[in-house]
Amino acid sequence: MSTPHLRIAPSILSADFARLGEEVRAIEAAGADLVHFDVMDNHYVPNLTIGPLVCEAIRPHVKIGIDVHLMVEPVDSLIPLFAKAGANIITFHPEASRHVDRTLQLIRDHGCQAGLVLNPATPVQVLDHVWDKLDMVLLMSVNPGFGGQKFIPSTLGKLRTIRAAINAHVARGGQPIALEVDGGVKVDNIADIVRAGADTCVAGSAVFGAPDAGGGYHGVMKALRAEAAKA
Ligand code: DX5
Ligand code: ZN
Repeated sequence: MSTPHLRIAPSILSADFARLGEEVRAIEAAGADLVHFDVMDNHYVPNLTIGPLVCEAIRPHVKIGIDVHLMVEPVDSLIPLFAKAGANIITFHPEASRHVDRTLQLIRDHGCQAGLVLNPATPVQVLDHVWDKLDMVLLMSVNPGFGGQKFIPSTLGKLRTIRAAINAHVARGGQPIALEVDGGVKVDNIADIVRAGADTCVAGSAVFGAPDAGGGYHGVMKALRAEAAKA
């Protein structure tokens, strides 16, 4: 199933952190739709990355939205800080919040779009009672914590299941919900991922490790879109 406009969200986890402003400007110039911003706390996941101060620092460098993926536990205390730092979308893992419905509402109350992230082993049923509070579902195609991992193939079946559920929700008169895939997305599998129902693709090492890395990223972004268009 091809989508009218596939959104590509390069993950700055694989960017050069010493030149982050320049890196986000370069991906925007190359046609990125969102900056994917991975927040890790060495508690929910075994790695430690960046927080609201870095979000605030890159915000003036780009016009595109900042897609904050929280891999932290607990979640709620960080939401006001990221909203103030200029986040546009905030997603979190349901296992990391004691009150998932409340956390989703809190994100929206702070003026951001809200989403849930499903790990490879998280059942799709976690979405069952919160459809009306979701702006995005983020499906992990690797276990969270590191960039550069291999895409888990069983994600495709799960993606088709979630796509069907979102379409059914919209057919019932529900609000639109984006479906994003994160982990191991490359030029050689993006068509399969889009065909299975994704409308937003995160790509970290594929973009920042591309042959034109450090240049403009135009080549890899063009290649990702050209492959996705075959879906
Ligand atoms: C993993 C992160 C991903 C990661 C993607 O925990 O959520 O966003 O950076 O990187 P690649 O595309 O290299 O798998
Ligand atoms: Zn991510």
